[in-house]
Amino acid sequence: MKNKTPRKTRKQLQAEKETASQNLVQKANAKDDPLEKLTKFHSLTLNDGSTVELSCSRVTELSGETIVWIFDLMERNMKTLYIESIWGWDEHKKQTELTEECAYYLIATHRGRMVGFSHFRFDMDHSVEVLYCYELQLEPSERRKGIGQFMMQALEAMATDNQMQKVVLTVLTKNPIACSFFHKLRYKIDVTSPPSSEDTTYCILSKQNLRTA
Ligand SMILES: CC(C)(COP(=O)(O)OP(=O)(O)OC[C@H]1O[C@@H](n2cnc3c(N)ncnc32)[C@H](O)[C@@H]1OP(=O)(O)O)[C@@H](O)C(=O)NCCC(=O)NCCS
Repeated sequence: MKNKTPRKTRKQLQAEKETASQNLVQKANAKDDPLEKLTKFHSLTLNDGSTVELSCSRVTELSGETIVWIFDLMERNMKTLYIESIWGWDEHKKQTELTEECAYYLIATHRGRMVGFSHFRFDMDHSVEVLYCYELQLEPSERRKGIGQFMMQALEAMATDNQMQKVVLTVLTKNPIACSFFHKLRYKIDVTSPPSSEDTTYCILSKQNLRTA
């Protein structure tokens, strides 16, 4: 017998795909702690035998003291670079972005002191479900110990665990350390990145083949 079900148009299929992606993002955003069951990423032992602990929560769960430290580290690490870019440094705008309700924070603690954070979100980006890494910031004294790499691996594991297609981030082209770091971690220019020219002050990187926890 002939199947009378009409075939779906490309537009309908696209709409269905987008709805499925949005559902995944919504499901991910319903979690209070997306790192909770990824126990492998709760701690890292450094070469000197000391331990770095990672914790994850919504911005709304962070203490006032933690938020103040986040703003302060952000400014110490990035203000000069932002001023040299097309973005400029707008303190109020940055603080608003850092504290938007949908923001999650991955915080690294070493010897009882906060030493690094990543602000990230589960979101739709150009119709694709992604984990967007808005920031990765480490205290200067804690760099080059493998903490940044471990934090990115934790983000990748959370992206995989929540069926996101990729981890996406923006990097300033005049930030050579960050460029080397993400190159080492095998991040590539994303399809949504602006075409490179001498005036381009940032690029968008992503990683698609994500690790599992
Ligand atoms: C970029 C940043 C997060 C890297 O974190 P980190 O903990 O120091 O990096 P790791 O120790 O995990 O380094 C992993 C790899 O990245 C590369 N890398 C890291 N720092 C580097 C540097 N200063 N110069 C060259 N390569 C570097 C290396 O290949 C390194 O591997 P190796 O140590 O085995 O050689 C940190 O430097 C930082 O907070 N910078 C200021 C804020 C910033 O620019 N953030 C990025 C915004 S997009």
